[in-house]
Amino acid sequence: MVARSADTARLFFALWPAPEVQRALGDVANRAQRECGGRAVPARNIHLTLVFLGDLPRDRAAVLETLASAVKVSRFAMSVDRLEYWRHNRILWAGMDACPEPLQSLVARMQDSLSDAGFRCEQRPYVPHITLLRNARQAPAKTVCPAIAWPVNGFELVESAPRERGREYQVLRSWTLGG
Ligand code: 2AM
Repeated sequence: MVARSADTARLFFALWPAPEVQRALGDVANRAQRECGGRAVPARNIHLTLVFLGDLPRDRAAVLETLASAVKVSRFAMSVDRLEYWRHNRILWAGMDACPEPLQSLVARMQDSLSDAGFRCEQRPYVPHITLLRNARQAPAKTVCPAIAWPVNGFELVESAPRERGREYQVLRSWTLGG
């Protein structure tokens, strides 16, 4: 394990939605919060993690950028239309019925190239989940997620930094997917 310090950063690759998609998902989060309690993720922080890397020495970011630049996947569109509740960690999240094939393929390519380069990646099957509430006390009975179109044109390398109130995310670099 790497000790946290100014020389380390908690990093992950993610799909960072456009502001209008964040707003639409933020509205669902606020409605769900009224029904289920907990803390709504602020709209500006709503995202979909592709690969979580954890705390790494900052100077590894350059290798990550090189690997990410080599990932060639075409743009795709997805629709978020489902709410799920994980009782074990009290997270309410938005997602979709099945992981879209291009998303699965993007994650698989990234995991393969990261693993080949010696990064430790998640071993469990990928479940695309967009966290909307933390510490929610129950699954929603009434709140639903309308179909929200999310055009995926690129992906991001993001740093998660602790702040007094929760965490703050900073997009370090974006890559555009092919046409
Ligand atoms: P979460 O929303 O379910 O907590 C930044 O922390 C992002 O990485 C979040 O999307 C978070 O998912 C995810 N994340 C945090 N820890 C993780 C872990 N150990 N494995 C996989 N994803 C993780």
